Amino acid sequence: MKHRINFKVNGDEYSLAVEPWKTLNEALREDLNLTGTKLGCGTGDCGACTVIVDGKSVSSCLTLAVSVDGKSVTTVEGLAPSGDELHPIQEAFVKTGAIQCGFCTAGMEMAALHLLNHNPSPNEAEIRAGLSGHLCRCTGYSQIVEAISVAAETMKNSQSEEEEQ
Ligand code: FES
Ligand code: FES
Repeated sequence: MKHRINFKVNGDEYSLAVEPWKTLNEALREDLNLTGTKLGCGTGDCGACTVIVDGKSVSSCLTLAVSVDGKSVTTVEGLAPSGDELHPIQEAFVKTGAIQCGFCTAGMEMAALHLLNHNPSPNEAEIRAGLSGHLCRCTGYSQIVEAISVAAETMKNSQSEEEEQ
């Protein structure tokens, strides 16, 4: 039997009837066509499927869709909702060469967002800790760490500019 869930994704309200075994990853990708969130291992080991639910970083492959009823989900599509301008995290990933095949990128960027929301000035060790559980088979991680450091600076500077205005 399907269960009806009402939840927000990137600020938009959705109402879906889902099977009790359907994962959040399947609901996002198959029902809402938000395919930016990837499915890698499906067992909570790679981080490619990471999204933010009510401020917490979660593996969407291990999260049942029914558990997000009434909650608010942010996916990689929510980083740059208009599509005209990239989020500073995305810009930094492009500039520093932190994307190769791109399969890990959505999860890495959501981990970066979660980290910077909680710690706007992380040092290298804190960035690496924030990326634990996120696997990248291409970049060797250094460019990803650099990207997050660059994004942190950009986000801090734009916040100071906004405060001065
Ligand atoms: S696909 Fe969810 S952690 Fe790998
Ligand atoms: S860029 Fe290919 S897995 Fe990270």
